Amino acid sequence: MMRPLTKLNKEEYTDIDNAWTIPAQYYTDESIFESEKEKIFANSWVCVAHSSEVKEKNSYITREIIGENLIVVRGRDNILRGFYNVCPHRGHQLLSGDSGKAKNVITCPYHSWAFKLDGELVHANNCDNVENFDKGLSSLVSFHVQEFAGFIFINLSETPEPIEDQLVGLEDKVFEACTVVKDLKLAARFVSETPANWKTIVDNYIECYHCPTNHVSFAESVDVGDYEHSLHQNWTIQVGKAKPSESSYKFDESIVDPRFSGFWIWPCTMFNMPPGGDYMTVIYEFPMSAGKTLQYYDIYFLNEELTEDQKRLVEWYKDVFRPEDLRLVESVQKGLSSRGYRGRGRIMTDKQRSGISEHGVAHFHQILVQQHLD
Ligand code: FES
Ligand SMILES: [Fe+2]
Repeated sequence: MMRPLTKLNKEEYTDIDNAWTIPAQYYTDESIFESEKEKIFANSWVCVAHSSEVKEKNSYITREIIGENLIVVRGRDNILRGFYNVCPHRGHQLLSGDSGKAKNVITCPYHSWAFKLDGELVHANNCDNVENFDKGLSSLVSFHVQEFAGFIFINLSETPEPIEDQLVGLEDKVFEACTVVKDLKLAARFVSETPANWKTIVDNYIECYHCPTNHVSFAESVDVGDYEHSLHQNWTIQVGKAKPSESSYKFDESIVDPRFSGFWIWPCTMFNMPPGGDYMTVIYEFPMSAGKTLQYYDIYFLNEELTEDQKRLVEWYKDVFRPEDLRLVESVQKGLSSRGYRGRGRIMTDKQRSGISEHGVAHFHQILVQQHLD
């Protein structure tokens, strides 16, 4: 059902204890998604991969986000660069596949223009016979890339703010929660085209109100009575005391003070460090439209050959934990466009900021309102 767009009023979002979600149309309306492309995704640092994925010279990844296909490649000079995956001649895609090793030049499959890994055009067939052909105007179009907290972030703005200003204090906290973050390697990836808005997925991550009923085996291993969700400028961290469970996380009982750490990082990435802090799972969101989000659910370990226990854990993530959340966000997305939904929902922040309090959702929505009104 189409409803007229509700105007946002900043005053309504200042009090975390008396908070409501932003209007449902912000999750379903394509014109809102179009404005988010510019206001949010073309102006923020967005996490796209772990550094190990583009570690060697000539290695590259591609990612598709807000309709843009992007290349991140490590040059022969060891410098990491980002280019739109678009040929300057007539716009054909240059590299295909999720990742790979580039030759020393990238050759366009259409008319074979060739580019160095720093983006410079080195060869365009027949260009000597073309009047006023300017090689300098035919190089690849770049965007900003930076390694931060062991991961790769991109920014499509021509003049981005420093990443340290977007995510103040995050890097230290990540290294604290997982001291081996830089040594991790990708062990498994589950890809889904989730029929949900990117914010529906963040809302779901940023509270554990739904954990006891929806993640029964996870809830067995986390003590909701000893759970803290602290809010920072553009990120939050949920820390819960962990107990070993046969059905989800088995871990060495010798670990002192075992904890789960779960980071939400603006706009749409989540880092999870399970007890022991020697591996991670990451949820990357790559928004496609108002109602669809490409998601990578990546699992990183230190070792390449997985143990039987690690293999079992990967299966548990794939078959149990992951689908539990996918079902929730899919259902919510559908409900948000129903004429039977009142258009906003009460955010269940409690006074004691308990393990099931939804103050993280209120915090996220304050940032969203700010971004939409700017
Ligand atoms: S489109 Fe790439 S060489 Fe023509
Ligand atoms: Fe969940």
